[in-house]
Amino acid sequence: MIITIDGPAGTGKSTIAKNVAKKLQITYFDTGALYRSIAWYVDKNNVPIDDLPSMEKLLKTFDFHIKREKNRCAYFVGKTDVTDFIRSAKISALASQIGAKGFVREALNPLQRDFAKTHDCVFEGRDLGTVVFPRADLKIFLSATPEIRAKRRLEQQTAEGQAKNANFEEILEQIIKRDKDDMERAVAPLKQAKDAFFIDTSNLNARQVTSKVLQCLKKKRTRKSICFQKNKASFFYRCVIFFYWCVFHLFYNFRVYGLEHSYSGGALIASNHVSFFDPPVLAVAYPDEVHIMARETLFRSFFGKCISKLNTHPVKGGATNLGVMKIMCSLLKEGKKVILFPEGTRPYKDELGEIKPGVGMLIARTETAVIPTYIHGNYKVWNRKHRFPKLSGSIACVFGSPILWESFKHMNKKEAQIAISKKLREAILALRKWYEEGAKGSPP
Ligand code: DC
Repeated sequence: MIITIDGPAGTGKSTIAKNVAKKLQITYFDTGALYRSIAWYVDKNNVPIDDLPSMEKLLKTFDFHIKREKNRCAYFVGKTDVTDFIRSAKISALASQIGAKGFVREALNPLQRDFAKTHDCVFEGRDLGTVVFPRADLKIFLSATPEIRAKRRLEQQTAEGQAKNANFEEILEQIIKRDKDDMERAVAPLKQAKDAFFIDTSNLNARQVTSKVLQCLKKKRTRKSICFQKNKASFFYRCVIFFYWCVFHLFYNFRVYGLEHSYSGGALIASNHVSFFDPPVLAVAYPDEVHIMARETLFRSFFGKCISKLNTHPVKGGATNLGVMKIMCSLLKEGKKVILFPEGTRPYKDELGEIKPGVGMLIARTETAVIPTYIHGNYKVWNRKHRFPKLSGSIACVFGSPILWESFKHMNKKEAQIAISKKLREAILALRKWYEEGAKGSPP
Protein backbone atom coordinates (compact mmCIF):
# COMPACT_ATOMS: atom_id res chain seq x y z
CA MET A 1 0.00 0.00 0.00
CA ILE A 2 1.25 3.49 -0.86
CA ILE A 3 0.00 6.58 0.96
CA THR A 4 1.25 9.98 -0.16
CA ILE A 5 1.17 13.11 1.98
CA ASP A 6 2.06 16.29 0.11
CA GLY A 7 2.00 19.91 1.13
CA PRO A 8 4.15 22.94 1.86
CA ALA A 9 6.75 23.17 4.64
CA GLY A 10 5.46 23.35 8.20
CA THR A 11 2.06 21.73 7.65
CA GLY A 12 3.02 18.82 9.88
CA LYS A 13 3.66 16.34 7.07
CA SER A 14 6.51 14.54 8.86
CA THR A 15 4.68 14.14 12.17
CA ILE A 16 1.48 12.99 10.47
CA ALA A 17 3.27 10.63 8.08
CA LYS A 18 5.17 9.08 11.00
CA ASN A 19 1.97 8.71 13.07
CA VAL A 20 0.01 7.16 10.20
CA ALA A 21 2.86 4.76 9.37
CA LYS A 22 3.06 3.73 13.03
CA LYS A 23 -0.72 3.17 13.29
CA LEU A 24 -0.77 1.06 10.14
CA GLN A 25 2.55 -0.62 10.97
CA ILE A 26 4.09 0.32 7.67
CA THR A 27 7.23 2.26 6.69
CA TYR A 28 7.68 6.03 6.58
CA PHE A 29 9.73 7.85 3.93
CA ASP A 30 10.52 11.57 4.19
CA THR A 31 11.41 12.58 0.61
CA GLY A 32 12.32 16.09 1.84
CA ALA A 33 15.27 14.45 3.63
CA LEU A 34 16.28 12.91 0.32
CA TYR A 35 16.31 16.34 -1.41
CA ARG A 36 18.05 17.89 1.61
CA SER A 37 20.70 15.16 1.56
CA ILE A 38 21.49 15.76 -2.07
CA ALA A 39 21.65 19.50 -1.28
CA TRP A 40 24.14 18.76 1.50
CA TYR A 41 26.20 16.62 -0.89
CA VAL A 42 26.20 19.34 -3.58
CA ASP A 43 27.19 21.95 -1.00
CA LYS A 44 29.94 19.76 0.45
CA ASN A 45 31.43 19.20 -3.00
CA ASN A 46 31.08 22.86 -3.94
CA VAL A 47 29.30 22.09 -7.20
CA PRO A 48 27.38 25.04 -8.73
CA ILE A 49 23.82 23.75 -9.29
CA ASP A 50 23.67 25.27 -12.79
CA ASP A 51 26.77 23.38 -13.93
CA LEU A 52 24.86 20.52 -15.56
CA PRO A 53 27.77 18.17 -16.43
CA SER A 54 29.28 18.43 -12.93
CA MET A 55 25.86 17.97 -11.29
CA GLU A 56 25.13 14.90 -13.42
CA LYS A 57 28.54 13.47 -12.53
CA LEU A 58 27.90 14.12 -8.85
CA LEU A 59 24.43 12.54 -8.95
CA LYS A 60 25.97 9.30 -10.19
CA THR A 61 28.03 9.06 -7.00
CA PHE A 62 25.17 10.02 -4.67
CA ASP A 63 24.72 7.07 -2.33
CA PHE A 64 21.75 7.66 -0.03
CA HIS A 65 20.36 5.30 2.54
CA ILE A 66 18.16 5.37 5.60
CA LYS A 67 18.97 3.66 8.87
CA ARG A 68 15.94 3.05 11.04
CA GLU A 69 16.82 3.31 14.68
CA LYS A 70 14.46 2.78 17.59
CA ASN A 71 13.08 6.30 17.89
CA ARG A 72 14.45 8.03 14.83
CA CYS A 73 15.44 7.71 11.20
CA ALA A 74 19.07 8.47 10.40
CA TYR A 75 19.95 9.64 6.87
CA PHE A 76 23.30 8.70 5.38
CA VAL A 77 25.17 9.94 2.33
CA GLY A 78 27.87 7.33 1.85
CA LYS A 79 29.20 6.75 5.36
CA THR A 80 28.30 10.22 6.71
CA ASP A 81 25.30 10.57 8.99
CA VAL A 82 23.76 13.81 7.63
CA THR A 83 20.59 13.75 9.76
CA ASP A 84 21.52 16.80 11.80
CA PHE A 85 23.26 18.77 9.03
CA ILE A 86 20.35 18.79 6.58
CA ARG A 87 17.95 20.90 8.67
CA SER A 88 19.84 24.21 8.42
CA ALA A 89 18.29 27.23 6.64
CA LYS A 90 21.08 27.10 4.05
CA ILE A 91 20.35 23.47 3.14
CA SER A 92 16.56 24.14 3.15
CA ALA A 93 16.97 26.88 0.55
CA LEU A 94 19.42 24.83 -1.54
CA ALA A 95 17.12 21.76 -1.43
CA SER A 96 14.29 23.89 -2.79
CA GLN A 97 16.49 25.14 -5.66
CA ILE A 98 17.78 21.65 -6.41
CA GLY A 99 14.25 20.24 -6.32
CA ALA A 100 13.39 22.57 -9.20
CA LYS A 101 15.90 20.81 -11.48
CA GLY A 102 14.21 18.26 -13.74
CA PHE A 103 17.31 16.09 -14.11
CA VAL A 104 17.64 15.80 -10.32
CA ARG A 105 14.01 14.69 -9.97
CA GLU A 106 14.44 12.20 -12.81
CA ALA A 107 17.36 10.67 -10.91
CA LEU A 108 15.51 10.59 -7.55
CA ASN A 109 12.06 9.40 -8.69
CA PRO A 110 13.16 5.82 -9.54
CA LEU A 111 14.84 5.59 -6.14
CA GLN A 112 11.51 6.33 -4.43
CA ARG A 113 9.54 4.00 -6.73
CA ASP A 114 12.02 1.15 -6.20
CA PHE A 115 11.66 1.57 -2.45
CA ALA A 116 7.85 1.28 -2.79
CA LYS A 117 8.17 -2.03 -4.65
CA THR A 118 9.29 -3.77 -1.50
CA HIS A 119 7.65 -1.69 1.25
CA ASP A 120 4.11 -0.66 2.19
CA CYS A 121 4.90 2.95 2.84
CA VAL A 122 3.75 6.47 3.74
CA PHE A 123 5.68 8.94 1.56
CA GLU A 124 5.70 12.64 2.36
CA GLY A 125 6.90 15.46 0.13
CA ARG A 126 5.76 17.78 -2.64
CA ASP A 127 4.93 15.79 -5.78
CA LEU A 128 4.35 12.29 -4.48
CA GLY A 129 0.65 12.15 -5.37
CA THR A 130 1.00 14.04 -8.64
CA VAL A 131 4.23 12.75 -10.21
CA VAL A 132 6.00 9.98 -8.30
CA PHE A 133 2.96 7.83 -7.39
CA PRO A 134 0.01 8.99 -9.48
CA ARG A 135 -1.72 5.70 -8.57
CA ALA A 136 -1.14 5.80 -4.81
CA ASP A 137 -3.80 4.06 -2.73
CA LEU A 138 -4.45 7.19 -0.68
CA LYS A 139 -3.38 10.77 -1.37
CA ILE A 140 -3.47 13.51 1.23
CA PHE A 141 -2.69 17.20 0.75
CA LEU A 142 -1.99 19.16 3.94
CA SER A 143 -2.16 22.92 4.22
CA ALA A 144 -2.02 25.65 6.90
CA THR A 145 -1.62 29.43 6.92
CA PRO A 146 2.01 30.66 6.56
CA GLU A 147 1.81 32.33 10.02
CA ILE A 148 0.85 29.08 11.75
CA ARG A 149 3.57 27.21 9.90
CA ALA A 150 6.20 29.79 10.85
CA LYS A 151 5.07 29.53 14.48
CA ARG A 152 5.41 25.74 14.38
CA ARG A 153 8.89 25.94 12.79
CA LEU A 154 10.01 28.38 15.48
CA GLU A 155 8.71 26.07 18.22
CA GLN A 156 10.42 23.11 16.58
CA GLN A 157 13.73 24.97 16.32
CA THR A 158 13.43 26.11 19.94
CA ALA A 159 12.81 22.54 21.04
CA GLU A 160 15.85 21.38 19.06
CA GLY A 161 17.98 24.13 20.62
CA GLN A 162 18.69 25.85 17.28
CA ALA A 163 16.62 28.96 17.92
CA LYS A 164 19.28 31.23 19.32
CA ASN A 165 19.35 33.30 16.16
CA ALA A 166 15.86 32.45 14.88
CA ASN A 167 13.11 35.02 14.79
CA PHE A 168 9.48 34.68 13.73
CA GLU A 169 9.53 37.29 10.92
CA GLU A 170 12.61 35.76 9.35
CA ILE A 171 11.12 32.25 9.40
CA LEU A 172 7.81 33.54 8.01
CA GLU A 173 9.62 35.27 5.16
CA GLN A 174 11.61 32.09 4.37
CA ILE A 175 8.42 30.00 4.38
CA ILE A 176 6.58 32.36 2.03
CA LYS A 177 9.55 32.45 -0.34
CA ARG A 178 9.94 28.65 -0.30
CA ASP A 179 6.18 28.15 -0.95
CA LYS A 180 6.41 30.50 -3.92
CA ASP A 181 9.49 28.72 -5.31
CA ASP A 182 8.02 25.23 -4.78
CA MET A 183 4.64 26.18 -6.30
CA GLU A 184 5.88 28.19 -9.25
CA ARG A 185 8.68 25.97 -10.44
CA ALA A 186 8.24 24.53 -13.92
CA VAL A 187 9.09 20.93 -12.94
CA ALA A 188 6.85 18.96 -10.56
CA PRO A 189 5.49 22.03 -8.77
CA LEU A 190 3.84 21.67 -5.39
CA LYS A 191 0.13 21.17 -6.05
CA GLN A 192 -2.75 19.08 -4.87
CA ALA A 193 -3.50 15.93 -6.89
CA LYS A 194 -7.08 15.90 -8.22
CA ASP A 195 -7.92 12.78 -6.23
CA ALA A 196 -6.19 13.86 -3.01
CA PHE A 197 -8.05 14.57 0.24
CA PHE A 198 -7.41 18.16 1.41
CA ILE A 199 -6.86 18.79 5.12
CA ASP A 200 -6.33 22.28 6.56
CA THR A 201 -4.20 21.71 9.66
CA SER A 202 -4.19 25.37 10.88
CA ASN A 203 -6.47 24.70 13.83
CA LEU A 204 -5.88 21.01 14.39
CA ASN A 205 -3.34 19.19 16.50
CA ALA A 206 -1.29 16.24 15.24
CA ARG A 207 -3.63 13.66 16.79
CA GLN A 208 -6.66 15.21 15.08
CA VAL A 209 -4.94 15.35 11.68
CA THR A 210 -3.73 11.74 12.01
CA SER A 211 -7.23 10.61 12.80
CA LYS A 212 -8.58 12.54 9.78
CA VAL A 213 -6.07 10.78 7.51
CA LEU A 214 -7.10 7.39 8.91
CA GLN A 215 -10.75 8.33 8.33
CA CYS A 216 -9.92 9.12 4.68
CA LEU A 217 -8.37 5.67 4.34
CA LYS A 218 -11.46 4.10 5.89
CA LYS A 219 -13.64 6.05 3.48
CA LYS A 220 -11.69 4.62 0.55
CA ARG A 221 -11.73 1.11 1.98
CA THR A 222 -15.48 1.13 2.44
CA ARG A 223 -16.56 2.59 -0.87
CA LYS A 224 -20.21 1.73 -1.46
CA SER A 225 -21.40 -0.93 -3.86
CA ILE A 226 -22.65 0.51 -7.15
CA CYS A 227 -26.24 -0.34 -6.18
CA PHE A 228 -26.16 2.48 -3.60
CA GLN A 229 -24.63 5.08 -5.90
CA LYS A 230 -27.30 7.13 -7.67
CA ASN A 231 -26.71 8.10 -11.33
CA LYS A 232 -23.71 5.79 -11.55
CA ALA A 233 -25.48 3.06 -13.57
CA SER A 234 -28.94 2.27 -14.99
CA PHE A 235 -31.76 1.65 -12.53
CA PHE A 236 -32.14 -1.94 -13.77
CA TYR A 237 -28.41 -2.65 -13.30
CA ARG A 238 -28.50 -1.24 -9.76
CA CYS A 239 -31.66 -3.23 -8.89
CA VAL A 240 -30.09 -6.53 -9.96
CA ILE A 241 -26.87 -5.73 -8.09
CA PHE A 242 -28.95 -4.78 -5.04
CA PHE A 243 -30.71 -8.16 -5.21
CA TYR A 244 -27.33 -9.97 -5.12
CA TRP A 245 -26.05 -7.58 -2.43
CA CYS A 246 -28.99 -8.70 -0.23
CA VAL A 247 -28.45 -12.40 -0.99
CA PHE A 248 -24.71 -12.26 -0.28
CA HIS A 249 -25.14 -10.32 2.94
CA LEU A 250 -28.13 -12.32 4.20
CA PHE A 251 -26.74 -15.80 3.56
CA TYR A 252 -22.99 -15.54 3.18
CA ASN A 253 -21.58 -12.90 5.56
CA PHE A 254 -20.17 -11.04 2.54
CA ARG A 255 -16.86 -9.14 3.00
CA VAL A 256 -14.87 -6.93 0.61
CA TYR A 257 -11.19 -5.99 1.03
CA GLY A 258 -8.68 -3.89 -0.91
CA LEU A 259 -10.93 -1.08 -2.19
CA GLU A 260 -8.15 1.38 -1.31
CA HIS A 261 -6.35 0.05 -4.40
CA SER A 262 -8.82 1.92 -6.60
CA TYR A 263 -7.90 2.39 -10.24
CA SER A 264 -9.47 5.15 -12.27
CA GLY A 265 -8.82 4.03 -15.88
CA GLY A 266 -9.82 1.00 -17.93
CA ALA A 267 -8.76 -2.25 -16.28
CA LEU A 268 -9.34 -5.97 -16.29
CA ILE A 269 -10.65 -7.40 -13.04
CA ALA A 270 -9.04 -10.82 -13.11
CA SER A 271 -10.04 -13.35 -10.47
CA ASN A 272 -10.05 -17.05 -9.71
CA HIS A 273 -13.21 -18.71 -11.03
CA VAL A 274 -15.01 -21.61 -9.37
CA SER A 275 -18.69 -20.69 -9.33
CA PHE A 276 -21.66 -19.11 -11.14
CA PHE A 277 -21.64 -16.66 -8.22
CA ASP A 278 -18.25 -15.21 -9.24
CA PRO A 279 -19.55 -12.56 -11.72
CA PRO A 280 -22.20 -11.18 -9.32
CA VAL A 281 -19.69 -11.22 -6.44
CA LEU A 282 -17.34 -9.01 -8.45
CA ALA A 283 -20.17 -6.76 -9.65
CA VAL A 284 -21.43 -6.23 -6.09
CA ALA A 285 -17.97 -5.76 -4.58
CA TYR A 286 -16.42 -3.38 -7.10
CA PRO A 287 -17.68 0.20 -6.64
CA ASP A 288 -17.82 0.96 -10.40
CA GLU A 289 -19.89 -0.60 -13.18
CA VAL A 290 -18.31 -3.77 -14.57
CA HIS A 291 -18.59 -5.44 -17.98
CA ILE A 292 -18.35 -9.12 -18.78
CA MET A 293 -18.27 -11.37 -21.86
CA ALA A 294 -20.67 -14.30 -22.06
CA ARG A 295 -21.27 -17.10 -24.55
CA GLU A 296 -23.48 -15.94 -27.39
CA THR A 297 -25.81 -18.96 -26.98
CA LEU A 298 -26.85 -17.63 -23.54
CA PHE A 299 -28.49 -14.61 -25.17
CA ARG A 300 -31.07 -16.61 -27.11
CA SER A 301 -33.41 -17.11 -24.15
CA PHE A 302 -35.40 -14.67 -21.97
CA PHE A 303 -32.49 -14.86 -19.49
CA GLY A 304 -30.23 -13.64 -22.31
CA LYS A 305 -32.45 -10.60 -22.93
CA CYS A 306 -32.11 -9.65 -19.27
CA ILE A 307 -28.35 -10.11 -19.01
CA SER A 308 -27.80 -8.07 -22.17
CA LYS A 309 -28.97 -5.06 -20.11
CA LEU A 310 -26.33 -5.86 -17.47
CA ASN A 311 -23.19 -4.93 -19.40
CA THR A 312 -22.90 -8.50 -20.63
CA HIS A 313 -21.47 -8.79 -24.14
CA PRO A 314 -22.16 -11.83 -26.36
CA VAL A 315 -19.04 -13.50 -27.75
CA LYS A 316 -17.96 -16.68 -29.53
CA GLY A 317 -14.78 -18.44 -28.38
CA GLY A 318 -12.18 -17.76 -25.64
CA ALA A 319 -10.30 -14.65 -24.62
CA THR A 320 -7.74 -15.06 -27.42
CA ASN A 321 -10.46 -15.13 -30.09
CA LEU A 322 -10.12 -12.09 -32.34
CA GLY A 323 -13.74 -10.94 -31.90
CA VAL A 324 -13.53 -11.22 -28.11
CA MET A 325 -10.24 -9.33 -28.10
CA LYS A 326 -11.78 -6.55 -30.18
CA ILE A 327 -14.72 -6.03 -27.82
CA MET A 328 -12.50 -6.16 -24.73
CA CYS A 329 -9.97 -3.76 -26.23
CA SER A 330 -12.64 -1.21 -27.06
CA LEU A 331 -14.18 -1.43 -23.56
CA LEU A 332 -10.78 -1.05 -21.89
CA LYS A 333 -9.86 1.86 -24.12
CA GLU A 334 -13.14 3.56 -23.15
CA GLY A 335 -11.95 3.34 -19.52
CA LYS A 336 -14.35 0.56 -18.46
CA LYS A 337 -13.72 -2.24 -15.96
CA VAL A 338 -13.97 -5.67 -17.57
CA ILE A 339 -14.23 -8.95 -15.67
CA LEU A 340 -12.04 -11.73 -16.99
CA PHE A 341 -11.48 -15.18 -15.56
CA PRO A 342 -7.95 -15.83 -16.67
CA GLU A 343 -8.03 -19.58 -16.09
CA GLY A 344 -10.75 -19.96 -18.75
CA THR A 345 -13.31 -22.46 -17.42
CA ARG A 346 -14.23 -23.26 -13.81
CA PRO A 347 -11.99 -26.02 -12.42
CA TYR A 348 -13.32 -28.96 -10.35
CA LYS A 349 -10.98 -28.10 -7.44
CA ASP A 350 -10.61 -25.00 -5.28
CA GLU A 351 -7.17 -24.27 -6.74
CA LEU A 352 -5.91 -21.63 -9.10
CA GLY A 353 -5.22 -23.17 -12.52
CA GLU A 354 -2.83 -21.92 -15.18
CA ILE A 355 -3.41 -18.40 -16.46
CA LYS A 356 -4.19 -18.22 -20.18
CA PRO A 357 -1.85 -15.92 -22.18
CA GLY A 358 -4.87 -13.84 -23.31
CA VAL A 359 -4.65 -11.55 -20.25
CA GLY A 360 -1.08 -10.54 -21.01
CA MET A 361 -2.03 -10.05 -24.64
CA LEU A 362 -4.93 -7.74 -23.75
CA ILE A 363 -2.85 -5.63 -21.40
CA ALA A 364 0.01 -5.42 -23.89
CA ARG A 365 -2.44 -4.33 -26.60
CA THR A 366 -4.46 -1.82 -24.63
CA GLU A 367 -1.65 -0.67 -22.32
CA THR A 368 -4.10 -0.63 -19.40
CA ALA A 369 -4.01 -2.45 -16.07
CA VAL A 370 -5.16 -5.64 -14.44
CA ILE A 371 -6.62 -5.78 -10.94
CA PRO A 372 -5.75 -9.16 -9.40
CA THR A 373 -8.70 -10.42 -7.36
CA TYR A 374 -9.27 -13.39 -5.11
CA ILE A 375 -12.76 -14.68 -4.34
CA HIS A 376 -12.97 -16.78 -1.22
CA GLY A 377 -15.78 -19.15 -0.29
CA ASN A 378 -17.64 -19.52 -3.58
CA TYR A 379 -16.27 -23.03 -4.10
CA LYS A 380 -17.92 -24.28 -0.92
CA VAL A 381 -21.11 -22.33 -1.57
CA TRP A 382 -21.66 -23.27 -5.21
CA ASN A 383 -19.12 -25.20 -7.28
CA ARG A 384 -19.66 -26.87 -10.62
CA LYS A 385 -20.47 -30.24 -9.05
CA HIS A 386 -23.75 -28.81 -7.69
CA ARG A 387 -26.84 -27.57 -9.51
CA PHE A 388 -27.90 -25.19 -6.75
CA PRO A 389 -26.04 -23.09 -4.18
CA LYS A 390 -25.93 -23.89 -0.45
CA LEU A 391 -27.86 -21.38 1.62
CA SER A 392 -25.09 -20.74 4.10
CA GLY A 393 -21.36 -20.13 4.03
CA SER A 394 -18.98 -17.25 3.87
CA ILE A 395 -17.91 -15.26 0.81
CA ALA A 396 -15.15 -12.65 0.59
CA CYS A 397 -13.74 -10.68 -2.31
CA VAL A 398 -10.18 -9.33 -2.10
CA PHE A 399 -8.85 -6.77 -4.60
CA GLY A 400 -5.07 -6.41 -4.93
CA SER A 401 -2.78 -3.63 -6.17
CA PRO A 402 -3.29 -3.08 -9.90
CA ILE A 403 -0.60 -4.52 -12.15
CA LEU A 404 0.28 -1.69 -14.49
CA TRP A 405 1.35 -1.90 -18.10
CA GLU A 406 4.11 0.65 -17.39
CA SER A 407 6.10 -1.96 -15.44
CA PHE A 408 6.31 -4.15 -18.56
CA LYS A 409 6.63 -1.64 -21.37
CA HIS A 410 10.41 -2.01 -21.57
CA MET A 411 9.91 -5.66 -22.65
CA ASN A 412 9.00 -6.86 -26.12
CA LYS A 413 5.29 -7.76 -26.47
CA LYS A 414 5.80 -11.53 -26.25
CA GLU A 415 7.98 -11.27 -23.14
CA ALA A 416 5.51 -8.80 -21.58
CA GLN A 417 2.56 -11.17 -22.17
CA ILE A 418 4.32 -14.01 -20.37
CA ALA A 419 5.54 -11.78 -17.54
CA ILE A 420 2.05 -10.25 -16.97
CA SER A 421 0.38 -13.67 -16.78
CA LYS A 422 3.06 -14.90 -14.34
CA LYS A 423 2.74 -11.79 -12.19
CA LEU A 424 -1.06 -12.08 -12.16
CA ARG A 425 -0.95 -15.69 -10.98
CA GLU A 426 1.50 -14.79 -8.21
CA ALA A 427 -0.66 -11.82 -7.20
CA ILE A 428 -3.88 -13.87 -6.90
CA LEU A 429 -2.03 -16.51 -4.86
CA ALA A 430 -0.59 -13.77 -2.61
CA LEU A 431 -4.12 -12.41 -2.03
CA ARG A 432 -5.34 -15.86 -1.09
CA LYS A 433 -2.41 -16.24 1.37
CA TRP A 434 -3.10 -12.77 2.82
CA TYR A 435 -6.75 -13.68 3.39
CA GLU A 436 -6.02 -17.11 4.84
CA GLU A 437 -3.47 -15.63 7.24
CA GLY A 438 -6.12 -13.42 8.83
CA ALA A 439 -6.65 -10.50 6.38
CA LYS A 440 -4.62 -8.02 8.42
CA GLY A 441 -3.90 -4.49 7.15
CA SER A 442 -4.08 -3.93 3.43
CA PRO A 443 -4.07 -6.72 0.83
CA PRO A 444 -0.89 -6.82 -1.31
O1 DC B 1 9.76 18.80 3.16
P1 DC B 1 11.08 19.61 3.35
O2 DC B 1 10.84 20.97 3.88
O3 DC B 1 12.06 18.82 4.16
O4 DC B 1 11.72 19.77 1.85
C1 DC B 1 12.85 20.53 1.59
C2 DC B 1 12.84 21.00 0.16
O5 DC B 1 13.04 19.89 -0.72
C3 DC B 1 11.55 21.67 -0.31
O6 DC B 1 11.61 23.08 -0.25
C4 DC B 1 11.41 21.27 -1.74
C5 DC B 1 12.25 20.04 -1.89
N1 DC B 1 11.42 18.85 -2.07
C6 DC B 1 11.00 18.59 -3.33
O7 DC B 1 11.26 19.34 -4.25
N2 DC B 1 10.26 17.46 -3.57
C7 DC B 1 9.95 16.61 -2.57
N3 DC B 1 9.25 15.51 -2.83
C8 DC B 1 10.37 16.90 -1.26
C9 DC B 1 11.10 18.05 -1.03
